[in-house]
Amino acid sequence: MKNFVLYNPTKLIFGAGQIAALAREIPQGAKVLMTYGGGSIKANGVYEQVKKALEGHTVLEFGGIEPNPCYETLMNAVALARSEKVDFLLAVGGGSTLDGTKFISAAIGFEGDPWEILTGARPKTAVPLASVMTLPATGSEMNSGAVISRKSTLEKFAFSTPLVFPRFSVVDPEVTYSLPPRQIANGVVDAFVHVLEQYLTYPADAPIQDRFAEGILQTLLEVGPRTLADPKDYNARSNMVFSATMALNGLIGVGVPQDWMTHMIGHELTILHGLDHAQTLAIVLPNLLWVQRESKREKLLQYGERIWGIREGSEAQRIEQAIIKTRAFFESMGNPTHLSDYSLGDDCFDEIVRRFKGRNMLPCGEKRDLDEAKLRQILAMCR
Ligand code: NZQ
Ligand code: ZN
Repeated sequence: MKNFVLYNPTKLIFGAGQIAALAREIPQGAKVLMTYGGGSIKANGVYEQVKKALEGHTVLEFGGIEPNPCYETLMNAVALARSEKVDFLLAVGGGSTLDGTKFISAAIGFEGDPWEILTGARPKTAVPLASVMTLPATGSEMNSGAVISRKSTLEKFAFSTPLVFPRFSVVDPEVTYSLPPRQIANGVVDAFVHVLEQYLTYPADAPIQDRFAEGILQTLLEVGPRTLADPKDYNARSNMVFSATMALNGLIGVGVPQDWMTHMIGHELTILHGLDHAQTLAIVLPNLLWVQRESKREKLLQYGERIWGIREGSEAQRIEQAIIKTRAFFESMGNPTHLSDYSLGDDCFDEIVRRFKGRNMLPCGEKRDLDEAKLRQILAMCR
């Protein structure tokens, strides 16, 4: 196992009815900017719950943060927060609203163009932030990362700094009942792939991380379909929600190699084609596993045996079965695994390769063995 530091200061406030906790968790006297997305919180009653809990606080609002939050939109919130001297941010919504709010938090005090935060500049300050998470998927409620898009240049980049860990996150499974099936499927697939990006690499003598990871995968396999079938099954839903949080809060990734190339390719498919984040992952991951099957051989065999119970056949057959079952799981959740399912072709492949090369990202992957030829092979299989 590699050396590591495990640091996660986010207080997770979990369970039905917990939005009321905002009243005591938000510092008295704070000037709060509440951020949200396109209106789901007004349709499902979350907005009222939050406003009630915040009676007695000074609260400004900024709505309209879009899925795959845009720098252009977020800069309007930065201007508002600066002019109103806001000193606490509360994101109410899905990963996009929270990621956007992390960017706002770091951008408020940033000298220069805040887009530089996405291209490597380290922000020195951030306005404290917290969240009410309404979509289990990204793990953003308990991590220090955010992914921001820029419309004008068609770029989608991530940044991470401990400054933007939420002070606390309220996660009430009941407020996710209003999610449409597409977002439940997205949530399960995103969380599943988060685990695989950190687990399906090569053995690192880290059985605790492996078994935590396998526990999350098994739970998602169990409760994902139940959540789709019965959207108001609280037990299934609460375990799905907690799985998503635990999949990307830092715990399972310590001391082990990580991949993240499915995500990197997926971000390009989102910005170039407008696919949902998890829709891209369902398309890319099975193909990346196939192209990287030699490189990931030992962990693919372990994954096949422990998650899918595959014990029969040659190594090559067992690996193939594990990948086939993964693809079938995504499809059974309602996420297609080919671009053609969305009537998309191969017209963006050259551009994606050009971007990877232009950013000096190749070769990439946990062993730095995913080169241009393999990237092209993965993309060709995504058709
Ligand atoms: O905008 P509103 O009206 O709120 O509607 C949203 C949006 O249309 C809706 N929604 C959210 N909660 C709901 C609800 N609808 C009904 N009931 C509810 N309770 O769902 C739609 C999608 O929301 P969005 O926030 O975009 O989805 P998600 O949470 O999947 O976030 C995706 C973004 O997170 C990034 C992705 O790249 C993408 O930009 N990621 C962030 C990560 C992180 N911070 O660590 C890691 C991930 O890998 C990912 O890259
Ligand atoms: Zn993801």
